[in-house]
Amino acid sequence: MPAPTTDDLLGALRGVIDPELGASIVELGMVQDVGVADDGAVTVKVALTIAGCPLRAQIKRDVEARLRSLPDVTAVRVEFGEMTQEQRTDVMQRARRKASENAPATQVPLTTRVIAVASGKGGVGKSSVTVNLASALAARGFTVGVLDADIWGFSVPRMLGVRGRLAASASAEGERRLISPHHIPVGAGAIELVSMGLLVDDEDTAIMWRGLMLAKALEEFLQKVAWGPLDYLLLDMPPGTGDIQMALGRLLPQAHMLIVTTPAQAVQKVAVRVADMARRSYLTVLGVIENMSQFTCDHGQSYALFGAGGGQALADDLGVPLVGQIPLEPAVSAANDAGLPLSVAAPGSAAGHEFSDIASRIADDLLPPVDMGGCTARVLAAAKAALG
Ligand SMILES: Nc1ncnc2c1ncn2[C@@H]1O[C@H](COP(=O)(O)OP(=O)(O)OP(=O)(O)O)[C@@H](O)[C@H]1O
Ligand SMILES: [Mg+2]
Repeated sequence: MPAPTTDDLLGALRGVIDPELGASIVELGMVQDVGVADDGAVTVKVALTIAGCPLRAQIKRDVEARLRSLPDVTAVRVEFGEMTQEQRTDVMQRARRKASENAPATQVPLTTRVIAVASGKGGVGKSSVTVNLASALAARGFTVGVLDADIWGFSVPRMLGVRGRLAASASAEGERRLISPHHIPVGAGAIELVSMGLLVDDEDTAIMWRGLMLAKALEEFLQKVAWGPLDYLLLDMPPGTGDIQMALGRLLPQAHMLIVTTPAQAVQKVAVRVADMARRSYLTVLGVIENMSQFTCDHGQSYALFGAGGGQALADDLGVPLVGQIPLEPAVSAANDAGLPLSVAAPGSAAGHEFSDIASRIADDLLPPVDMGGCTARVLAAAKAALG
């Protein structure tokens, strides 16, 4: 396989957003140099507005994750530099220009961590993982958006026990009417849910949405929903690879893909295709979740009903972590049907416990929430100075 080209590297880096300046580090001109050695080691030089910016660690982590997700990249070295006064003025101007050009950008805050829950094959548990993971993250105190991107095959409202219709309200600007998500308090946090299932009862709305292509529907969900401040946004993706996945790469380049598979090796092959698609749209694969792993009966005997090893094999193939293995447990399904995810209904159950472990791994290690930690004041001060 040929080494990635500079275009590949820059394409991947386009997904790294400076949450403060509100644009990609490539568009902002913060990537000063990027190159790859014969052994696949990539070196990238990023210029920061302020050397001591607390977002530095996060930008480093994001740059590494994005570049590592490219095939044949063996190592990533990030070097930081500080901008000159002149460069800083230029970056601030670019940031402002981007902000005005991107007027109909999504309503999803740039500080939100976006996770698309995907799989190659249907019925492996994407929706179950989405609702349980969202609940477990919310229970930890986060505000978690859930976008049911399985536009016509929606199942999330039922799994979260939500019925009714979403209301549209005038946005802060007064003119554009935005849809308010359904608010579900969970523990110390909350879930903000949007699904076609909460929109289609109304005749006019149904007609309006039905004519749209799936990709367009996703765009509408991202642009016409008043998401508000979110720590995380989870998208329950439809099965397979297609329009929605491609649209996601375009609309939310900062999204990470979490791939659900079962222990069966056949499913794993299909899942590889989803990962390929993710890479082609420059989305990072965060990890693999193996669902419907072994079943343990009341006598404590475990059975690998759907085979074994598929999750680990896929994770190894993709060079990403196996984030968790959720046992096959009838209670998962019963909780879905009752409208209260098992991670909330029975956090002490084997599967409930695993969901909460996965949430911890994501929040503490793999994709911690964006912490603006005092950076704003410093950059504003710098901007002021730069603009005279
Ligand atoms: N760990 C589990 N133990 C028991 N049942 C499960 C488990 N995970 C999911 N299920 C059940 O399996 C079925 C399929 O799960 P789910 O709907 O989450 O899959 P999906 O990948 O979203 O499917 P689709 O591709 O149709 O959207 C559901 O009935 C669900 O309740
Ligand atoms: Mg589903």
